[in-house]
Amino acid sequence: MFSYCVFNVLLLCAVSIFASKIVEGSQPILQKTIEALFTDRSNEMYPGPCKLIRASKRQNKICERDTGLANVLTNAKEQAIAACEETFQYDRWNCSLVFNRKAKRSIFNKLFRETAFVHALMAASITHSVAKACASGDLSSCSCPGNFGKNNTWKMAGCGDDFRHGKRLTKNFLDFKHAGNDQIAEILKQDIIVGVDSIGEQLKEVCKCHGFSGSCTTKTCWKRLGPFNSAMGLLKKHYHHAVKKKIMNYTTKRAITPKVRNRMKVERKNLLYLQKTPNLCVSTEGRVCKDRHNCATLCCGRGVITNKKTVSSRCRCRMVNCCFVQCDTCVEEVDQYTCK
Ligand SMILES: *[C@@H]1O[C@H](CO)[C@@H](O)[C@H](O)[C@H]1NC(C)=O
Ligand SMILES: *[C@@H]1O[C@H](CO)[C@@H](O)[C@H](O)[C@H]1NC(C)=O
Ligand SMILES: *[C@@H]1O[C@H](CO)[C@@H](O)[C@H](O)[C@H]1NC(C)=O
Repeated sequence: MFSYCVFNVLLLCAVSIFASKIVEGSQPILQKTIEALFTDRSNEMYPGPCKLIRASKRQNKICERDTGLANVLTNAKEQAIAACEETFQYDRWNCSLVFNRKAKRSIFNKLFRETAFVHALMAASITHSVAKACASGDLSSCSCPGNFGKNNTWKMAGCGDDFRHGKRLTKNFLDFKHAGNDQIAEILKQDIIVGVDSIGEQLKEVCKCHGFSGSCTTKTCWKRLGPFNSAMGLLKKHYHHAVKKKIMNYTTKRAITPKVRNRMKVERKNLLYLQKTPNLCVSTEGRVCKDRHNCATLCCGRGVITNKKTVSSRCRCRMVNCCFVQCDTCVEEVDQYTCK
């Protein structure tokens, strides 16, 4: 590597160091935005119209034009982080921002499997929030989406969730157009698209019948998304099936060769990442695990400490006075396992 750097064009050298070490800088806006949203777990507000993040000029313009977007982004961020922490509660990586509790080992320093997942997750969450906001009229850039049906009768029945607008706005806000077309950019863009499409797959058509006693002489239909959590199963599957890529040819300023492009088409559905995740076993000490099977994996074979824990829950629920549900609170002792 060293001699390579000395004898070759400087650019080449810089580029390959960049590729092996970090990802940052390749697509400033796309990456900065995802990182800012996932990293900042406070509710700090910035002066610009996007409020939630230190946004680019272009992003602030988008937020300014689209009143309601700042709130939608806040919602998207919170929903993504909450869903991530819940879904990965019993996994070695639990959505933490760093690996092995080391501040220097940020998941955003390289393009790990986890980094790829967070890109998809956040893009999915923004898409979902925008689509939902369109239906409830919270965004000025979209109203009830009417372009999917054959006629406009749906307007009377209610609004669909505008997935297409969600997708468009997400890509626009993340500045896809200026993300570049080198290999790293292609990987990042694919990870975003995988996330967005995981929302698209949740899109269901719901119909309402009109006519005498449900005879359904006319029908109005619209598209609806499930709650964001219903996409998490699919996203987690993508996390597990993510494909490790090698950056191959740097001779043309990291330009993606046609060959690589074709191969990517084949893997269109997969999350892509570049670097192997460090071994996380050292960081799972003290983590709570779920059951024997999960504990074996999470604790990396070190065994568990079993404690009793009291949990209270609603129980013996019943109807009172015809229409109210009344429950007792039951207290129960359960085993809680903690990794040694
Ligand atoms: C379209 O609208 C007309 C009336 O406006 C209605 O009779 C018809 O059933 C609608 N078609 C569909 C597919 O909803
Ligand atoms: C890299 O790209 C150049 C120019 O496109 C090509 O001539 C060369 O064979 C490529 N090398 C590899 C290893 O793909
Ligand atoms: C994730 O695990 C780390 C230990 O590796 C722990 O310090 C942190 O609180 C956990 N985060 C959540 C949200 O459970």
